[in-house]
Parts: sequence; structure tokens; C-alpha cells
Amino acid sequence: MRLSLESRAGYEDADRRHQRPDGQLATSPLITAVHVLNGPNLNLLGAREPGVYGTLTLAEIETKLGAACRDRGVELVFRQSNHEGDLVTWVQEAGRAGAPVILNAGAYTHTSIALQDAIRGSTARVVEVHLSNVHAREPFRHHSMIAAVAEGVILGFGPRSYELALEALLPRDAAAEKETGR
Ligand code: DQA
Repeated sequence: MRLSLESRAGYEDADRRHQRPDGQLATSPLITAVHVLNGPNLNLLGAREPGVYGTLTLAEIETKLGAACRDRGVELVFRQSNHEGDLVTWVQEAGRAGAPVILNAGAYTHTSIALQDAIRGSTARVVEVHLSNVHAREPFRHHSMIAAVAEGVILGFGPRSYELALEALLPRDAAAEKETGR
């Protein structure tokens, strides 16, 4: 699998989304939950094109992330839908809750103006993730509607893309610091 790590940290849009309505910066000490949102066909992981997406099921990915979230003392909200509107509603919900989002929008990544608007309109920090390296695949997968409004994009690492996104949002060192008061 080819590897690709992209980050748009520092871009104006992303910076604005760090600003919570109360004027505070959404830095890790304020994070109590992480929302992981999965789009269409990701419920088929395990059986779906294992050569592209691997053999782990979505439930197994959830279990791994659950452990990583427990380590960091944050709640995991893990969801999947085949419907674009559900993802829009859940992004808005995370924004209202002040929770960062790890978003694998599946094929909606490449088409959804509604999701881009939802991210733009919410205060949620969003990290876009993909299991596969979409840039090494068909040209229609090369464009993302999400990337322009995401804080960063992590793709091509299989299920580890999700764990790397969590690490980007909530570095393990910072979590340990929080716990030990260092
Ligand atoms: C995907 C890549 C998308 O192009 C595709 O439509 C998916 C999965 C990934 O995780 O690699 O459903 O988001």
C-alpha cells in the first residue's frame, strides 16, 4: 500500500474552526469525546474488496479506536450511515458538542457539497481519513470535497489511518501529560 499524509494545518478555514463559539481555542484539554463518522459502504468492510480495504470489519476498527480513546480518557462516538443527510446531521451535532470529528465519508468525499457546507458551518475540527490511497486509484477519487475544509487528511494506511487521525487530534503524550499533571 502506498502511503500519503497530507495536512492543511495553518490554513485560514481550519484555523477559524478551531475557534469555539465561546471564543476559546478547541485544544485537547477541552476534548471529552471524539466522533468517528463513516459513510456509505463502510459497513461492508471485511468482505468488501479486501485487496483495497483490508480484512478488518468496521466493528473491529471501532474496537481498536475504543481502546485508543480509553487510553486518552475520551469517549468514542462511532457511527456509520449509507445516507448523506445522516452524516450532515452528525457533523452538525459534533460541532454543537465541541467534539472533533474523524470523517471517512466514503464516496461522498468526492461529491458532497452538503458535507462541505456542514463542516464549514459547524465549529467542529475535522480530520478526513481514508483506508486506501485514493490518489493511487481512479481519477474520480482524486478530488475531495472535504479536504478544503478539513484540518488535515490522512489516507492510505488502512485502519491505521483512523488511529493516526486520533493521534493528530489528541497526541498520546498530551493525554499522558494531562493524566500525570506533568
Ligand atoms: C474510501 C475511499 C473512497 O473513494 C471510497 O468510495 C470508499 C472508501 C477509503 O476509505 O479508502 O468508500 O473512503
